[in-house]
Amino acid sequence: MKNLHIIEHPLIRHKLAKLRDEATPMQEFRRLLDDIGLLMTYEVTRELQTVSVEVRTPVGTASCSRLERVPVLVTILRAGIGMLGSFMQMLPESPVGFLGLQRDEETLQPESYYSKIPFVARTSPVILIDPMLATGGSASDAIEHLRKNGVEEITFVCLVAAPEGVRAINERYPDLQIYTAALDDRLNEHGYIVPGLGDAGDRVFGTGADDIR
Ligand code: PRP
Ligand code: URA
Repeated sequence: MKNLHIIEHPLIRHKLAKLRDEATPMQEFRRLLDDIGLLMTYEVTRELQTVSVEVRTPVGTASCSRLERVPVLVTILRAGIGMLGSFMQMLPESPVGFLGLQRDEETLQPESYYSKIPFVARTSPVILIDPMLATGGSASDAIEHLRKNGVEEITFVCLVAAPEGVRAINERYPDLQIYTAALDDRLNEHGYIVPGLGDAGDRVFGTGADDIR
């Protein structure tokens, strides 16, 4: 599949096996998502451009590199919050944006309910984070929103991708790079990734968190 980077690492595979397990409780799910996110940052940021700098150490001058442009992190609510902390930990200088998207359970179309993107995103590389790439509708909406606001460089990061979602992004955005920890088999009739891990938002924050009854 085009522009798809499956991050292969024994620790990621080990932790993903635990995270997928239906018996894994919310508290552990959060911790595992955070751990995997941390491991993924290493590969996701590999292509970031650097510039040379001279640094005075206590005993001399070292030729070093630093990031040319610090990336902006943009996360898709809700489940994206579960992976955001790990990226913020590794990129503490990164501004952070939020896009609220909710998939309609019948049509599977995302509906936008919130958007707050830092102004600097226009000139910076953007790392867009959402653990699940299913039909690709939410990721496409998010990318479209960022592009309309002038963002040029976008990398999409997820935890689990379905082939349907990867194809949809490839077709619509042929140059966009996708990083994932796993490429699963397919979508089921409800638009869930099989075998997947279930509803990522519910597993991070609790089932039915939008119903106050
Ligand atoms: C989930 C997930 C993605 C989206 C993926 O969010 O976090 O944003 O579904 O599906 P798609 O590729 O078919 O668009 P959901 O809409 O369930 O919202 P939530 O995170 O608030 O639960
Ligand atoms: N969203 C989820 O949270 N899980 C899926 O399997 C598909 C979409």
